[in-house]
Amino acid sequence: MMFSHDRKDFGPDFVFGVAMAAHQIEGGQTDGRGASIWDSFAATPGNIKNAENGVVACDHYNRWAEDLDLIRDGGFDAYRFSFSWPRLIPEGTGAPNEAGFDFYDRLIDGMLERNIKPLATLYHWDLPSALQDKGGWMNRDTTRAFADYAAQITRRFGDRLATTATLNEPWCITILSHFLGIHAPGYRDIRAASRAMHHVLLAHGLGIEAMRAEGGKDLGIVVNMEKCEPLTQSPQDAAAAELGDAIFNQFFLDGALKGQYPKLVTDRIEQYLPANWQDDLKLISPPVDWIGLNYYTRSLYQSDPSVPVFPFTQSRGPLEKNDLGWETYPQALTEFLKRASDRYPGLPIYVTENGMSESDDGKRIDFFDKHFAAIRDAQKQGVDVRGYMAWTLIDNFEWAEGYSAKFGIVAMDPETRDRIPKGSYRAFQKMLG
Ligand code: NOJ
Repeated sequence: MMFSHDRKDFGPDFVFGVAMAAHQIEGGQTDGRGASIWDSFAATPGNIKNAENGVVACDHYNRWAEDLDLIRDGGFDAYRFSFSWPRLIPEGTGAPNEAGFDFYDRLIDGMLERNIKPLATLYHWDLPSALQDKGGWMNRDTTRAFADYAAQITRRFGDRLATTATLNEPWCITILSHFLGIHAPGYRDIRAASRAMHHVLLAHGLGIEAMRAEGGKDLGIVVNMEKCEPLTQSPQDAAAAELGDAIFNQFFLDGALKGQYPKLVTDRIEQYLPANWQDDLKLISPPVDWIGLNYYTRSLYQSDPSVPVFPFTQSRGPLEKNDLGWETYPQALTEFLKRASDRYPGLPIYVTENGMSESDDGKRIDFFDKHFAAIRDAQKQGVDVRGYMAWTLIDNFEWAEGYSAKFGIVAMDPETRDRIPKGSYRAFQKMLG
């Protein structure tokens, strides 16, 4: 099977890449790497499907060269990867781990040798445990620690990075991890979540400022968008979907890019936010150079006044679903691209993640193809979309779902960890080669 699109359709400089994240692939919990919140979260019964963990993962720490060869041979222009903070600064602050810096030197140089653009993310969820011991994202001091970490990255690697994002998916770092309890550190507490929401954005702002001071270029933020639709035609469900949209799709981008939080959300959480949060809004929103959108699916909202704080419940609809039950809903990608371009004018946009957990690889090819069409539609409407990063190269540690969810265009033999390209990898190769 092939894609119905051609690389040329997207414009001459459009970047095609793959995305992965440190904790999901690296393993290599050696050579001075510090502990992260995902290590202890995974070691705690009940948190991860089949009690799996990222101890070895795809062993990318040792097999990185082979993985970069796969990226090059797939015809991709870019690799979106993340730095592991506890590998670089084991305690989160203080003494750096030289072996960790050496690893990313090898990785980045390996990309450049293969003509692959390094698209870096500073924080893809593996907070150093030593910072969590002091409250993690609930503690304002973590924002300073993050800015220092950002500065060190720019000093060492900045001149070799094509782009750098501060955060990956602040909704997951905060709501999913501190309110719904599904991701590390596994809190279910609105005060914890509200403080985290404010502090991750402050970390973003201070991080951007720290990287600029070190000469960092092409700096941005990556957020996830999920289409929020009412379950029924009732005005109550419409209001629930509107609130869901404000939390999911507006809070973090408006915070980072406009220095404001949607009133719909602050009306609900103001009492839990840190005191004088308004005074930080300027620090939170320094200019950035681009926006990254991760997009997967939609959710249906039903009003439920018995639910405290955010009075709704969510469900999935009747459309075609992936193995995790997420519906395929490509048209919302066009909408989100257009909306970001209208609301935050002048900023180039990258689709920094999109993909499908699916055992039937033919469906994955079809999924990608439909989302390519959605991007073309946005481009036709004048949106400045600069690139597309497929999630993901290799089946990997899908957080709370462990290894059962398979988003890769390359499979991994569970015993030997050999990489086995799927048809979707070949489809990319044909389109990009
Ligand atoms: C979002 C995250 O950034 C990534 O880590 C995750 O594996 C994919 N989406 C799929 O859920």
